Amino acid sequence: MHMKTTVLDLKHKKGARLVMLTAYDFPTARLAAEAGVDVILVGDSLGMVVLGYDSTVPVTMEEMLHHTRAARRGAPATFLVADMPYLSFATPALALANATRFMKETGADSVKIEGGAEVLPIVQALVGAGVPVLGHIGLTPQTASALGGFKLQGKDEANARRILDEAVALDRAGCWGIVLELVPAPLARRITERISIPTIGIGAGAQTDGQVLVFHDIVGLFSGFTPKFVKRYGEAGMLIKEAIERYASEVRSGAFPDEGHSFGMNEDVLKRLEGGDAKK
Ligand code: KIV
Repeated sequence: MHMKTTVLDLKHKKGARLVMLTAYDFPTARLAAEAGVDVILVGDSLGMVVLGYDSTVPVTMEEMLHHTRAARRGAPATFLVADMPYLSFATPALALANATRFMKETGADSVKIEGGAEVLPIVQALVGAGVPVLGHIGLTPQTASALGGFKLQGKDEANARRILDEAVALDRAGCWGIVLELVPAPLARRITERISIPTIGIGAGAQTDGQVLVFHDIVGLFSGFTPKFVKRYGEAGMLIKEAIERYASEVRSGAFPDEGHSFGMNEDVLKRLEGGDAKK
């Protein structure tokens, strides 16, 4: 029997190069699971790559619940993290109510929360209630404008120290892992050495305990701005567009549907039908 990955398994995988990928629906979660990713993240990047918003701020709890359920159906046995959307964890009580919905209504294994010192009481409340929490520091897209936009974080000593301290505090507060987004590689390495839980980097260099990227970015499905840290491993967008163009062209030329894609009918039935029509 295949045993499902637990938070403890992931904690023990510090140093093991964990692979995390976002997925937001049944087919992509299934492909990610079949490809053997360790952790699926239903990120609130959903808002930008699937729903067409220009930031993650408008994403709602209902949207996240809907997509997390679909991803779970596609990957029933993979460790699955649901991102808590903007302001859904503004107070410990609200965070607990919303995290409870993710755990009970979607089958998620963990939630993810963006933020440093300001979210410590929330992490403590959730972990205390038994909800596994993945932290997320450095560039936090929900509050990117307060951080000066989508920019490298922790370049100067004060900010680097603050991010390091936040990582230590989130570890102590009970997170099972921390996403480090858009921080210098040497800072990510220092944090990874300093804390006991896995770090999962995105734009944070190679010396974290794992990596995460957005599905649409790696397969070439997102045509918006692509940051330097994204690597494209496929051109699915081009393939899909070509397929749609061929379909449209064959419909217009009459080449589709051909006999191989149509259904015939018993000749007698057809004759009677046509005869019946003729009598009218
Ligand atoms: O929402 C998301 O996809 C994320 C990852 C980029 C870490 O938070």
